[in-house]
Amino acid sequence: MYNQKKATRKSEVRPFTSSAYAGRWVTCEVPKDKIPEKSMESRAAYQLVHDEMNLDSNPALNLASFVTTWMEEEAEDIIIESLNKNYIDEDEYPQTRAIHDRVIRMTGNLCHSEEAAGTATIGSSEAIMLALLAHKWNWREKRKKTGRDFSSPNIVFGGDVHSCWEKFALYFDVEMRVIPLATDKFTINADDVAQYVDENTIAVGTVLGTTFTGQVDDFIGINDFLVSLKKEKGLDIPMHVDAASGGFVAAFGFPDLRWDFRLEQVKSINISNHKFGLVYPGMGTVLFRNSSIIPEELIFHINYLGGSMPNYSLNFSKPSSMVLAQYYNFLRLGRNGYTRIIKNILEVAEYVENALIETGKFKVLTDTKYLPVAAVCMKEENGYDVFKISKRLRQYGWIVPAYTLPPAAQELAVLRIVVREHFTIDMAENFIEDIKKVLKNLDREAGNIPEKKSDSPGVC
Ligand SMILES: Cc1ncc(COP(=O)(O)O)c(C=O)c1O
Repeated sequence: MYNQKKATRKSEVRPFTSSAYAGRWVTCEVPKDKIPEKSMESRAAYQLVHDEMNLDSNPALNLASFVTTWMEEEAEDIIIESLNKNYIDEDEYPQTRAIHDRVIRMTGNLCHSEEAAGTATIGSSEAIMLALLAHKWNWREKRKKTGRDFSSPNIVFGGDVHSCWEKFALYFDVEMRVIPLATDKFTINADDVAQYVDENTIAVGTVLGTTFTGQVDDFIGINDFLVSLKKEKGLDIPMHVDAASGGFVAAFGFPDLRWDFRLEQVKSINISNHKFGLVYPGMGTVLFRNSSIIPEELIFHINYLGGSMPNYSLNFSKPSSMVLAQYYNFLRLGRNGYTRIIKNILEVAEYVENALIETGKFKVLTDTKYLPVAAVCMKEENGYDVFKISKRLRQYGWIVPAYTLPPAAQELAVLRIVVREHFTIDMAENFIEDIKKVLKNLDREAGNIPEKKSDSPGVC
């Protein structure tokens, strides 16, 4: 990585006396609350921060996150070369803006958009806020124009959404109507939506690849219902697809799945480039079916950085690096490279899930997944649960989250493994070996198998 390389280069020409570990900083308390009065050697400051980072977990063993933890060296070079470019300085960095527009067009094309209207964001949360804000604005303007009350907007989504949906409702003062899940149903369909929408609904939210189970909402059924509502009652309610985790996976892994602008009522989509777009955090994209959906009043035209620059974002400054790295990936991998990677991670996820089932301890939550995840719950009462397994896996370095599902499926506790590009089948085999050791130890402690002192010394 960059800092390590740079530091190694510097240390080659520095005398030993300036070594971080020979200086006074190793014996002083490290400042934690106030900026220190005196400067320190760059090498010492680097080493202090670097060493503290060692206390974090290893990103390669983090099976909790959907966010990219590995990129090619050439991509990292692009990132380093552009670290000092603020994306918002479009007048100064016009080529970065031009590349941004190419990335938006390519992503729009992937989602079958009529017109690539959209922008890169810092992540899917910002993308969702921007999309829903546009829908709220359009709903209010329509109501105002026809002299109807516009004091009570609501938004309808399932309990399977990410917390940023609730954040939108709370921060932007919109009533949230959350469709509850059930112990045997973890997504939403048209019948659910029909019970919650009315003339004050600014949008219906659906998820492509839920964080909890990796399933998808019934896009086609919900779209058809919303189309019939428009035709029969004149209620034109937009549908937003949260494709944070599943957008790139579906585009390359399940090209026949109709979830995007091929569906009439899909008016906006968010996608996380920093997930299966395969770039580091933070980059997301918001796409609109066409530019007329973005209210002109929400676009700021600023001229104080030179030129006149239209801007629809929550943030002002943001890094350029990931936009450029995304373009690198699109060029480098092409459609066939992405397809190969996505198919591979889906296969590894399937291997992991099958291997977990073969231990006899777990059962699958669902066999229809559109994300490279293995999500399982305990098959029967063993005297331990998924939370204990998750905790014990940390002793081997693996980070695997255990959680309960949202209401009203909260009685189900799940263990979830996310497979990313660099989690190869070899690493998956190592992981399975380790989880088997954990299960054996837990079984022994719970009295499920006889105690045998010689096994796995040092573990548990
Ligand atoms: C389905 C879904 N939507 C939205 C988000 C929020 O995305 P971000 O972290 O890019 O803001 C996530 C994050 O994991 C997610 O899984």
